[in-house]
Amino acid sequence: MEDRLRLRKYVLVWLLIVLHSCYFASCGNAADRAVDPKNSRVWGPGVEMPDRATLPARYFFIEPRDADNQKINESQKYDIHIIGQSRFGSCRYRLNQIDRHDGSSIVRYRLAESCSDVTIHVRHNEAHLTGSPFAIPGTLYSEQCYCPQGSVEEWLETVGCPAGDPQIDMDLIPFRAINFSSLRTRMIQQYDKPGSISHCNYVILRNQVHRRCYGQHTGFSKFMDTILLSLARKFTLPDMEMFVNLGDWPLVKKGGPSRTTGPYPIFSWCGSDDTFDIVMPTYDITESTLENMGRVMLDMLSVQRRGLPWADKHAKAFWRGRDARRERLELVALSRRYPELLNASLTNFFFFRDEESEFGPRVAHISMHEFFDYRYQVNVDGTVAAYRLPYLLAGSSVVLKQDSFYYEHFYRKLVPMRHYIPFEADLSNLVQQIEWARENDEKAREIRDNANAFINANLLPLDIYCYHALLFKEYAKYIVSPIQVQPGMEKIEQPEEAYHCPCERTTLPRDEL
Ligand SMILES: *[C@@H]1O[C@H](CO)[C@@H](O)[C@H](O)[C@H]1NC(C)=O
Ligand SMILES: *[C@@H]1O[C@H](CO)[C@@H](O)[C@H](O)[C@H]1NC(C)=O
Ligand SMILES: *[C@@H]1O[C@H](CO)[C@@H](O)[C@H](O)[C@H]1NC(C)=O
Repeated sequence: MEDRLRLRKYVLVWLLIVLHSCYFASCGNAADRAVDPKNSRVWGPGVEMPDRATLPARYFFIEPRDADNQKINESQKYDIHIIGQSRFGSCRYRLNQIDRHDGSSIVRYRLAESCSDVTIHVRHNEAHLTGSPFAIPGTLYSEQCYCPQGSVEEWLETVGCPAGDPQIDMDLIPFRAINFSSLRTRMIQQYDKPGSISHCNYVILRNQVHRRCYGQHTGFSKFMDTILLSLARKFTLPDMEMFVNLGDWPLVKKGGPSRTTGPYPIFSWCGSDDTFDIVMPTYDITESTLENMGRVMLDMLSVQRRGLPWADKHAKAFWRGRDARRERLELVALSRRYPELLNASLTNFFFFRDEESEFGPRVAHISMHEFFDYRYQVNVDGTVAAYRLPYLLAGSSVVLKQDSFYYEHFYRKLVPMRHYIPFEADLSNLVQQIEWARENDEKAREIRDNANAFINANLLPLDIYCYHALLFKEYAKYIVSPIQVQPGMEKIEQPEEAYHCPCERTTLPRDEL
């Protein structure tokens, strides 16, 4: 009896304490929680090493925290200033804040020209957040400046890129001694199918880019030119020769006619389980890296902009796209049968024009931000892997991904049921998987959070540069033939303004600038 009374007393006192602290700290009511500038975190290459990691748009993250060091999930406004000197006076820049769905923000800035004596001020309600103002010791080069700083090895280390990548290791296994003296002519002959295959032979020598293209549709070589030139502005590329496939489909079939030379080393934007192509980040994600805050609106940072909160999203799967593959028509058919689970429509008919009456009508394009009004995003192959997957994984919905033998450079690191919900290539269990997601809401949101974390650890602009640098560094080691500019190659020039920048610490001899 006494014990029971005592227990009751304890419970009462405890309840009072909880109620009391809830009253003052507004427990459960995030709106009243104040940002504590000392506990809030600011990090990322744009504040930690903007002088070492030269990017088209530099970026960093802010995570607001309260006095108890708890994350605050409501949007905040920050006051950000970059103060520095350029040749033309004060440092000029454009700034953009991306408010994410979890209360944190991405801040990015694009410099109009190189700046030195830079400090970056990050304030919330007049108060500096931890670490602010950030004083940057070196010069912040404009990304357009031709200022290579050392070798690729030095650059990889300076900006802290990963030391290796499982996809690169896999891709290079068959290519331990690449002799273009014997391969080059055969490769050009083998892929001389101008109507269906377009490719380019590149030679990088003394940090200059040269190429000769073959085929009818060689416009996509501009994506390759642009990334090579951009890398060459940051560090000295290894001397190397390479072949780049400009088409969608990987080219070097496994188990093809046995060749004494082994498989041909060809770089492609998409890989598949039945080919030996060496994969690079797709031209799509690479362009959005290079054009960050420039011509491209949708990129791995902007796509993280807050949309509808989870609770307000339709509890349905969503898909839009063109008719690049039969399964995409079947997806539309499924959405007619299960309109309460799936909203899927085609935006364009090209491959199956004669079936428009059955699988139409086609609907207008909508921006990807509107996709995220739906909780579940469906990823189905197009002609090859759907290059939208990185964007879907970065958004505020959870991704259902079709099993496929096509892959991009980062798929090897994705884990089903951790980063996405898998479904069969023939869509046979898609409906079941959507139902699973609806019934396991907590788990679905956790998968979404894991996918977001994966993107921020592996596919941001600096990661895309790292992957290219690491891939070319590893690949170049295996070339045994002499690196020589080949007859008929043209030199791809840096943009005019590249040479109008003063550079410090440049490692190339003067006459090559
Ligand atoms: C913020 O977190 C609280 C507590 O975890 C939750 O109840 C609330 O819905 C969240 N708000 C947003 C905007 O996600
Ligand atoms: C590369 O191939 C050429 C032509 O077949 C041959 O003469 C040369 O010795 C080879 N080089 C190496 C390093 O194997
Ligand atoms: C499908 O999605 C579009 C775009 O959000 C919407 O306008 C349309 O009403 C939806 N259709 C159904 C059947 O819910």
